[in-house]
Amino acid sequence: MTTDAEIAFETRLTEQASAVEARLRRSLDDRPLSGEIARPERLLLAMRHGVLNGGKRLRPFLVMESAALFDPDARDDTALCVAAALECVHCYSLIHDDLPAMDDDDLRRGQPTVHRAYDEATAILAGDSLLTLAFDIIAGEPWEHGKRPTAATRLVLVKGLARAAGLGGMTGGQMLDLAAEHASPDEAGIIRLQAMKTGALIRFACEAGAILAHASSADQERLAEFGSAIGLAFQLADDLLDMTADASQIGKATGKDAAAGKATLAALHGADWARRQLNGLVEQAHALLDPYGERAAMLKAAATFVANRTR
Ligand code: IPE
Ligand code: IPE
Ligand code: MG
Ligand code: MG
Ligand code: MG
Repeated sequence: MTTDAEIAFETRLTEQASAVEARLRRSLDDRPLSGEIARPERLLLAMRHGVLNGGKRLRPFLVMESAALFDPDARDDTALCVAAALECVHCYSLIHDDLPAMDDDDLRRGQPTVHRAYDEATAILAGDSLLTLAFDIIAGEPWEHGKRPTAATRLVLVKGLARAAGLGGMTGGQMLDLAAEHASPDEAGIIRLQAMKTGALIRFACEAGAILAHASSADQERLAEFGSAIGLAFQLADDLLDMTADASQIGKATGKDAAAGKATLAALHGADWARRQLNGLVEQAHALLDPYGERAAMLKAAATFVANRTR
Protein backbone atom coordinates (compact mmCIF):
# COMPACT_ATOMS: atom_id res chain seq x y z
CA MET A 1 0.00 0.00 0.00
CA THR A 2 1.29 3.44 -0.87
CA THR A 3 0.72 6.00 1.88
CA ASP A 4 0.29 9.76 1.46
CA ALA A 5 3.70 10.26 3.08
CA GLU A 6 5.30 7.94 0.52
CA ILE A 7 3.64 9.77 -2.38
CA ALA A 8 4.73 13.15 -0.98
CA PHE A 9 8.26 11.80 -0.56
CA GLU A 10 8.49 10.42 -4.11
CA THR A 11 7.16 13.71 -5.53
CA ARG A 12 9.67 15.77 -3.57
CA LEU A 13 12.53 13.39 -4.45
CA THR A 14 11.72 13.72 -8.16
CA GLU A 15 11.43 17.51 -7.98
CA GLN A 16 14.70 17.89 -6.16
CA ALA A 17 16.44 15.41 -8.46
CA SER A 18 15.56 17.65 -11.44
CA ALA A 19 16.77 20.74 -9.64
CA VAL A 20 20.08 19.16 -8.71
CA GLU A 21 20.50 17.70 -12.19
CA ALA A 22 20.05 21.17 -13.71
CA ARG A 23 22.64 22.52 -11.28
CA LEU A 24 25.07 19.73 -12.15
CA ARG A 25 24.54 20.32 -15.86
CA ARG A 26 25.65 23.93 -15.38
CA SER A 27 28.85 22.82 -13.68
CA LEU A 28 29.57 20.50 -16.60
CA ASP A 29 29.25 23.19 -19.23
CA ASP A 30 31.71 23.36 -22.18
CA ARG A 31 33.01 26.80 -21.29
CA PRO A 32 36.15 26.95 -19.16
CA LEU A 33 35.84 28.85 -15.88
CA SER A 34 38.30 31.51 -14.86
CA GLY A 35 41.57 29.83 -13.96
CA GLU A 36 40.86 26.90 -16.28
CA ILE A 37 42.72 26.61 -19.59
CA ALA A 38 40.41 24.30 -21.54
CA ARG A 39 37.87 21.54 -20.91
CA PRO A 40 38.88 18.45 -22.92
CA GLU A 41 35.76 17.20 -24.66
CA ARG A 42 36.24 13.47 -24.08
CA LEU A 43 36.77 13.96 -20.35
CA LEU A 44 33.80 16.29 -20.08
CA LEU A 45 31.58 13.81 -21.94
CA ALA A 46 32.71 11.00 -19.63
CA MET A 47 31.93 13.15 -16.58
CA ARG A 48 28.48 13.92 -17.94
CA HIS A 49 27.96 10.22 -18.60
CA GLY A 50 28.78 9.45 -14.98
CA VAL A 51 26.68 12.25 -13.51
CA LEU A 52 23.75 13.16 -15.75
CA ASN A 53 22.43 9.64 -16.01
CA GLY A 54 19.61 9.36 -13.55
CA GLY A 55 20.34 8.15 -10.09
CA LYS A 56 18.05 8.59 -7.14
CA ARG A 57 19.86 11.75 -5.95
CA LEU A 58 19.22 10.71 -2.39
CA ARG A 59 22.24 12.48 -0.89
CA PRO A 60 21.23 15.84 -2.42
CA PHE A 61 17.70 15.27 -1.14
CA LEU A 62 19.05 14.75 2.37
CA VAL A 63 21.05 17.99 2.23
CA MET A 64 17.98 19.96 1.13
CA GLU A 65 15.56 18.43 3.61
CA SER A 66 17.94 18.60 6.56
CA ALA A 67 18.43 22.29 5.82
CA ALA A 68 14.65 22.83 5.52
CA LEU A 69 14.07 21.10 8.85
CA PHE A 70 15.72 24.00 10.65
CA ASP A 71 14.88 26.83 8.28
CA PRO A 72 12.36 26.46 5.43
CA ASP A 73 14.13 29.28 3.59
CA ALA A 74 17.37 27.31 3.68
CA ARG A 75 16.12 25.01 0.93
CA ASP A 76 17.62 27.49 -1.53
CA ASP A 77 20.30 27.69 -4.23
CA THR A 78 23.04 27.61 -1.66
CA ALA A 79 21.83 24.27 -0.35
CA LEU A 80 21.44 23.13 -3.94
CA CYS A 81 25.13 23.88 -4.57
CA VAL A 82 26.17 21.82 -1.57
CA ALA A 83 23.76 19.09 -2.66
CA ALA A 84 25.30 19.10 -6.14
CA ALA A 85 28.80 18.95 -4.69
CA LEU A 86 27.90 15.86 -2.67
CA GLU A 87 26.40 14.22 -5.73
CA CYS A 88 29.67 14.88 -7.61
CA VAL A 89 31.57 12.99 -4.92
CA HIS A 90 29.00 10.19 -4.95
CA CYS A 91 29.13 9.84 -8.76
CA TYR A 92 32.93 9.83 -8.67
CA SER A 93 32.80 7.05 -6.07
CA LEU A 94 30.53 5.01 -8.34
CA ILE A 95 32.73 5.52 -11.42
CA HIS A 96 35.78 4.30 -9.51
CA ASP A 97 33.83 1.54 -7.70
CA ASP A 98 32.88 0.09 -11.10
CA LEU A 99 36.45 0.00 -12.46
CA PRO A 100 37.97 -3.39 -13.31
CA ALA A 101 40.43 -3.00 -10.42
CA MET A 102 37.51 -2.65 -8.02
CA ASP A 103 34.06 -4.22 -8.60
CA ASP A 104 34.53 -4.59 -12.36
CA ASP A 105 30.98 -3.69 -13.37
CA ASP A 106 29.61 -3.05 -16.85
CA LEU A 107 26.23 -1.60 -15.97
CA ARG A 108 25.34 1.42 -13.83
CA ARG A 109 22.00 3.23 -13.70
CA GLY A 110 20.90 1.07 -16.62
CA GLN A 111 23.74 2.21 -18.87
CA PRO A 112 27.30 1.10 -19.60
CA THR A 113 29.67 2.14 -16.82
CA VAL A 114 32.00 5.03 -17.63
CA HIS A 115 35.03 2.82 -18.30
CA ARG A 116 32.90 0.69 -20.67
CA ALA A 117 31.44 3.69 -22.51
CA TYR A 118 34.87 5.37 -22.67
CA ASP A 119 38.00 3.66 -21.32
CA GLU A 120 39.64 3.03 -17.97
CA ALA A 121 42.03 5.96 -17.98
CA THR A 122 39.22 8.35 -18.91
CA ALA A 123 37.02 6.90 -16.14
CA ILE A 124 39.77 7.40 -13.57
CA LEU A 125 40.25 11.00 -14.69
CA ALA A 126 36.49 11.64 -14.78
CA GLY A 127 36.27 10.48 -11.16
CA ASP A 128 39.26 12.61 -10.16
CA SER A 129 37.76 15.65 -11.88
CA LEU A 130 34.38 15.19 -10.17
CA LEU A 131 36.05 15.05 -6.79
CA THR A 132 37.85 18.33 -7.38
CA LEU A 133 34.72 19.86 -8.93
CA ALA A 134 32.85 19.19 -5.68
CA PHE A 135 35.30 21.31 -3.71
CA ASP A 136 35.32 23.94 -6.44
CA ILE A 137 31.54 24.26 -6.10
CA ILE A 138 31.61 24.56 -2.32
CA ALA A 139 34.58 26.90 -2.18
CA GLY A 140 33.96 29.35 -4.91
CA GLU A 141 30.99 29.06 -7.19
CA PRO A 142 28.99 32.25 -7.45
CA TRP A 143 25.93 31.28 -5.42
CA GLU A 144 23.98 34.01 -7.06
CA HIS A 145 20.40 33.43 -5.96
CA GLY A 146 21.06 32.03 -2.53
CA LYS A 147 22.20 33.62 0.65
CA ARG A 148 25.96 33.40 0.45
CA PRO A 149 27.37 31.31 3.26
CA THR A 150 30.23 32.91 5.06
CA ALA A 151 33.77 31.80 4.34
CA ALA A 152 33.75 30.11 7.74
CA THR A 153 30.68 28.02 6.82
CA ARG A 154 32.28 27.03 3.52
CA LEU A 155 35.39 25.90 5.36
CA VAL A 156 33.34 23.76 7.75
CA LEU A 157 31.64 22.16 4.74
CA VAL A 158 34.96 21.62 2.90
CA LYS A 159 36.45 19.94 5.94
CA GLY A 160 33.37 17.80 6.59
CA LEU A 161 33.17 16.66 2.98
CA ALA A 162 36.89 15.91 2.81
CA ARG A 163 36.68 13.77 5.94
CA ALA A 164 33.55 11.96 4.79
CA ALA A 165 35.01 11.21 1.36
CA GLY A 166 38.60 10.33 2.23
CA LEU A 167 40.89 8.04 4.16
CA GLY A 168 38.73 7.85 7.28
CA GLY A 169 35.48 7.79 5.28
CA MET A 170 34.49 6.61 1.81
CA THR A 171 37.84 5.73 0.23
CA GLY A 172 39.03 4.17 3.48
CA GLY A 173 35.85 2.10 3.54
CA GLN A 174 36.38 1.04 -0.06
CA MET A 175 39.87 -0.15 0.90
CA LEU A 176 38.42 -2.21 3.76
CA ASP A 177 35.70 -3.53 1.45
CA LEU A 178 38.30 -4.82 -1.02
CA ALA A 179 40.43 -6.32 1.76
CA ALA A 180 37.35 -8.08 3.15
CA GLU A 181 37.05 -10.14 -0.05
CA HIS A 182 40.04 -12.13 1.22
CA ALA A 183 39.70 -11.96 5.00
CA SER A 184 36.24 -12.51 6.45
CA PRO A 185 35.55 -9.71 8.92
CA ASP A 186 33.13 -10.23 11.80
CA GLU A 187 29.87 -8.31 12.16
CA ALA A 188 31.54 -5.32 13.82
CA GLY A 189 34.13 -5.21 11.05
CA ILE A 190 31.46 -5.23 8.34
CA ILE A 191 29.45 -2.52 10.09
CA ARG A 192 32.57 -0.36 10.32
CA LEU A 193 33.50 -0.77 6.67
CA GLN A 194 29.93 -0.04 5.57
CA ALA A 195 29.69 3.00 7.85
CA MET A 196 32.80 4.26 6.08
CA LYS A 197 32.26 3.36 2.43
CA THR A 198 28.58 4.36 2.31
CA GLY A 199 27.54 5.78 5.67
CA ALA A 200 30.05 8.61 5.85
CA LEU A 201 28.70 10.52 2.82
CA ILE A 202 25.08 9.98 3.83
CA ARG A 203 25.87 11.08 7.37
CA PHE A 204 27.56 14.18 6.04
CA ALA A 205 24.64 14.97 3.70
CA CYS A 206 22.33 15.18 6.71
CA GLU A 207 24.84 17.12 8.80
CA ALA A 208 25.60 19.55 5.95
CA GLY A 209 21.94 20.61 5.74
CA ALA A 210 21.92 21.35 9.44
CA ILE A 211 25.16 23.33 9.10
CA LEU A 212 23.72 25.39 6.23
CA ALA A 213 20.63 26.21 8.28
CA HIS A 214 22.80 27.29 11.23
CA ALA A 215 21.30 24.63 13.49
CA SER A 216 22.77 24.29 16.98
CA SER A 217 25.67 21.87 17.39
CA ALA A 218 23.38 19.47 19.27
CA ASP A 219 20.98 19.50 16.30
CA GLN A 220 23.85 19.07 13.83
CA GLU A 221 25.00 16.04 15.81
CA ARG A 222 21.46 14.62 15.94
CA LEU A 223 21.14 14.92 12.16
CA ALA A 224 24.54 13.30 11.70
CA GLU A 225 23.39 10.40 13.89
CA PHE A 226 20.23 10.13 11.81
CA GLY A 227 22.47 10.02 8.72
CA SER A 228 24.57 7.24 10.23
CA ALA A 229 21.50 5.13 10.94
CA ILE A 230 20.07 5.50 7.46
CA GLY A 231 23.56 5.11 5.93
CA LEU A 232 23.86 1.65 7.47
CA ALA A 233 20.32 0.85 6.36
CA PHE A 234 21.15 2.07 2.87
CA GLN A 235 24.04 -0.34 2.41
CA LEU A 236 22.17 -3.20 4.05
CA ALA A 237 19.31 -2.64 1.57
CA ASP A 238 21.86 -2.45 -1.26
CA ASP A 239 23.33 -5.80 -0.24
CA LEU A 240 19.86 -7.30 0.00
CA LEU A 241 18.99 -6.01 -3.48
CA ASP A 242 22.21 -7.53 -4.79
CA MET A 243 20.96 -10.88 -3.42
CA THR A 244 17.30 -10.65 -4.39
CA ALA A 245 16.68 -8.17 -7.24
CA ASP A 246 17.47 -8.41 -10.92
CA ALA A 247 19.56 -6.06 -13.02
CA SER A 248 16.65 -4.62 -15.00
CA GLN A 249 15.07 -3.51 -11.71
CA ILE A 250 18.08 -1.77 -10.18
CA GLY A 251 20.07 -0.83 -13.29
CA LYS A 252 23.23 -2.63 -12.18
CA ALA A 253 24.37 -6.24 -12.14
CA THR A 254 23.18 -8.37 -9.23
CA GLY A 255 24.59 -11.44 -7.53
CA LYS A 256 27.99 -9.79 -7.67
CA ASP A 257 28.66 -9.63 -3.94
CA ALA A 258 28.41 -13.39 -3.45
CA ALA A 259 30.42 -14.04 -6.61
CA ALA A 260 33.20 -11.73 -5.41
CA GLY A 261 33.10 -13.11 -1.86
CA LYS A 262 32.13 -9.67 -0.51
CA ALA A 263 31.62 -9.42 3.21
CA THR A 264 28.05 -8.23 3.75
CA LEU A 265 25.70 -8.51 6.72
CA ALA A 266 22.99 -9.92 4.48
CA ALA A 267 25.34 -12.73 3.44
CA LEU A 268 26.51 -13.32 7.02
CA HIS A 269 23.07 -13.49 8.65
CA GLY A 270 20.63 -14.03 5.77
CA ALA A 271 17.85 -12.00 4.19
CA ASP A 272 15.30 -12.36 7.01
CA TRP A 273 17.76 -11.09 9.59
CA ALA A 274 18.65 -8.21 7.26
CA ARG A 275 14.97 -7.20 6.93
CA ARG A 276 14.51 -7.22 10.72
CA GLN A 277 17.68 -5.20 11.11
CA LEU A 278 16.42 -2.69 8.55
CA ASN A 279 13.19 -2.23 10.51
CA GLY A 280 15.22 -1.60 13.66
CA LEU A 281 17.39 0.99 11.92
CA VAL A 282 14.32 2.82 10.61
CA GLU A 283 12.83 2.92 14.11
CA GLN A 284 16.11 4.26 15.44
CA ALA A 285 16.27 6.89 12.69
CA HIS A 286 12.66 7.96 13.28
CA ALA A 287 13.20 8.21 17.04
CA LEU A 288 16.14 10.56 16.45
CA LEU A 289 13.78 12.91 14.60
CA ASP A 290 10.89 12.72 17.08
CA PRO A 291 11.88 16.00 18.78
CA TYR A 292 11.14 17.85 15.54
CA GLY A 293 7.54 16.60 15.25
CA GLU A 294 5.70 16.98 11.95
CA ARG A 295 8.46 19.11 10.45
CA ALA A 296 10.56 15.95 10.11
CA ALA A 297 7.94 14.01 8.13
CA MET A 298 9.89 14.20 4.86
CA LEU A 299 13.14 12.98 6.43
CA LYS A 300 11.27 10.21 8.22
CA ALA A 301 9.78 9.16 4.89
CA ALA A 302 13.31 9.16 3.47
CA ALA A 303 14.41 6.73 6.19
CA THR A 304 11.50 4.43 5.40
CA PHE A 305 12.33 4.64 1.69
CA VAL A 306 15.99 3.78 2.29
CA ALA A 307 15.11 0.58 4.10
CA ASN A 308 12.31 -0.56 1.79
CA ARG A 309 13.73 0.59 -1.49
CA THR A 310 13.39 -1.58 -4.56
CA ARG A 311 15.79 0.51 -6.70
C1 IPE B 1 24.86 3.07 -4.85
O1 IPE B 1 24.28 4.26 -4.41
C2 IPE B 1 26.15 2.84 -4.14
C3 IPE B 1 26.04 2.60 -2.71
C4 IPE B 1 26.52 3.42 -1.85
C5 IPE B 1 25.40 1.41 -2.23
P1 IPE B 1 22.83 4.70 -4.88
O2 IPE B 1 21.89 3.53 -4.76
O3 IPE B 1 22.46 5.95 -4.18
O4 IPE B 1 23.04 4.97 -6.41
P2 IPE B 1 22.29 5.98 -7.38
O5 IPE B 1 22.96 7.30 -7.19
O6 IPE B 1 20.84 6.01 -7.05
O7 IPE B 1 22.56 5.41 -8.75
C1 IPE C 1 29.78 1.02 -3.12
O1 IPE C 1 29.21 -0.13 -2.59
C2 IPE C 1 29.97 2.07 -2.17
C3 IPE C 1 30.70 3.20 -2.79
C4 IPE C 1 31.47 3.92 -2.09
C5 IPE C 1 30.57 3.51 -4.21
P1 IPE C 1 28.78 -1.19 -3.69
O2 IPE C 1 29.94 -1.65 -4.48
O3 IPE C 1 27.92 -2.23 -3.05
O4 IPE C 1 27.85 -0.29 -4.62
P2 IPE C 1 27.16 -0.82 -5.95
O5 IPE C 1 26.34 -2.03 -5.57
O6 IPE C 1 28.24 -1.13 -6.92
O7 IPE C 1 26.29 0.33 -6.36
MG1 MG D 1 31.99 -1.80 -4.19
MG1 MG E 1 30.03 -1.92 -6.62
MG1 MG F 1 26.20 -3.13 -3.92
